[in-house]
Amino acid sequence: MTGATLPQHVAVIMDGNGRWAKARGQARIQGHRKGVERVRDLVAACAETGIKAVTLFAFSSENWRRPRLEVRLLRQLFLFALEREIPKLHENDIRFSAIGDIAAFGAEIVRRVREAEELTRHNQRLHMTIAANYGGRWDVAQACRCLAEEVKAGRLAPADISAESLEPYLSMAGVPEPDLFIRTGGEQRISNFLLWQLAYTELYFTPVLWPDFDRVQFDLALASFAGRQRRFGRTGDQVEAAWRA
Ligand code: IPE
Ligand code: IPE
Ligand code: MG
Repeated sequence: MTGATLPQHVAVIMDGNGRWAKARGQARIQGHRKGVERVRDLVAACAETGIKAVTLFAFSSENWRRPRLEVRLLRQLFLFALEREIPKLHENDIRFSAIGDIAAFGAEIVRRVREAEELTRHNQRLHMTIAANYGGRWDVAQACRCLAEEVKAGRLAPADISAESLEPYLSMAGVPEPDLFIRTGGEQRISNFLLWQLAYTELYFTPVLWPDFDRVQFDLALASFAGRQRRFGRTGDQVEAAWRA
């Protein structure tokens, strides 16, 4: 085996809640509620195995296109989950962050998110990030806007703009890029998640619906990751030689 066997950062598109509920003759929100339980399990599993960061896609900038009732119930669920889970995260030395344009969810959510980030900012065991009203294109665009302000203020020359100079302005600045990406629910697409940061991430797709994604399923994803060779543009022989050295 070549390369690290345990990912340091796992990014997840939690998909399939609606279909899970529909298959049981329940309202879609029941699938989302079950999904929150799986988030709790996954975060615990990450902390136990020694993974250092987990980033979860909870609501995309395109999810506003959903029926108003579902959007409203998702917002309530977000608020409820924040209230109930943040103290437990803090007790377990887990840092909480949110990325995305969360102002659109209203002042109460913004206040609670900022309080949670402040409360947990020095926690070391695991860094959990929730992407809410997040879009990868939005993220790159807002980073470009910041760079443009730097240029306008005379602090940066256009010729000095590079991938490295853009990175500090991205929402995930300071967090190493995801090593493993997991998407549940059968779809094999990125759906405007972390576009920039997924450049060299190992992708794992499973048909299992998010409310059924338990520890056994997570271990399968980790095993798949452990069996891969990450080359970052090099040849397989180069990677193996570096590993032996
Ligand atoms: C993912 O599950 C959760 C959110 C997008 C909020 P879905 O709600 O997309 O579930 P499906 O894809 O309709 O089954
Ligand atoms: C992606 O799921 C976003 C989240 C899980 C929050 P969607 O269900 O919205 O994705 P598409 O529309 O099927 O691509
Ligand atoms: Mg979906």
